[in-house]
Amino acid sequence: MQIVILNDAAAVAAYGANIFAAQLQKKPTSVLGLATGSTPVALYQLLIAKNKAGDISFSQATTFNLDEYLGLTGEHPQSYRYFMNEQLFNHVDINKENTFVPPGDAVNPITACKEYENKIAAAGGVDVQLLGIGRNGHIGFNEPSSGLCSRTRVKTLTKATVDDNARFFAADEYQPHLSITMGIGTILEAKKVVLLATGENKADAVHAMIEGPLMAKCPASALQLHKDAVIVIDKAAASKLD
Ligand code: F6R
Repeated sequence: MQIVILNDAAAVAAYGANIFAAQLQKKPTSVLGLATGSTPVALYQLLIAKNKAGDISFSQATTFNLDEYLGLTGEHPQSYRYFMNEQLFNHVDINKENTFVPPGDAVNPITACKEYENKIAAAGGVDVQLLGIGRNGHIGFNEPSSGLCSRTRVKTLTKATVDDNARFFAADEYQPHLSITMGIGTILEAKKVVLLATGENKADAVHAMIEGPLMAKCPASALQLHKDAVIVIDKAAASKLD
């Protein structure tokens, strides 16, 4: 693991954006693994600006998102497909047909998981995978106790994750407790992974990921096994490192 500790969230976003921009410049046909949540939003804004400035192009790129709520269609404002359209895809020169998010409205979610794995393989695998980390150490929706070799599958969300994400849903709105997520084994097959974490509320999870034992209780600790994992964090998220 390469650990990069920067002053603040803006510096973390800029560092992460530069990795993705360099990847697209080096290989315009890159396969990018993408994430949702609060953390990557600033990075996506920087990539949009670089695209508008003509520094990078997504026109030949393919993307695969980590996860999606099971039970929401892509039109639902809380779906991760909707998030990606709003936060990135609608603002860059990407061909939306080359953007993949696990289908939350799949008639047969089990089959859909296998098909998602097949699509990643057919695209040649993920070149760079963006990750955030949950306060409980999850990556994607691989909650604590997820198998370290797990593949794309239907996963129940823990109460902690449902509570953390309740902020995005109205009080009377249906909030899914199930997801489709790339597995930890799937994520580890990306050629490079870049995990961003900011803020003191991530400090315990960051400590467990980097300095704790490799264990299913902290899914992100599996990144200790990856030969090209870059962990980009601000000082607050790094505050519990030894
Ligand atoms: C999102 C995802 C999640 C988030 C994590 C952190 O696609 O896979 O693992 O990265 O929950 O979320 P934020 O960035 O909102 O703190």
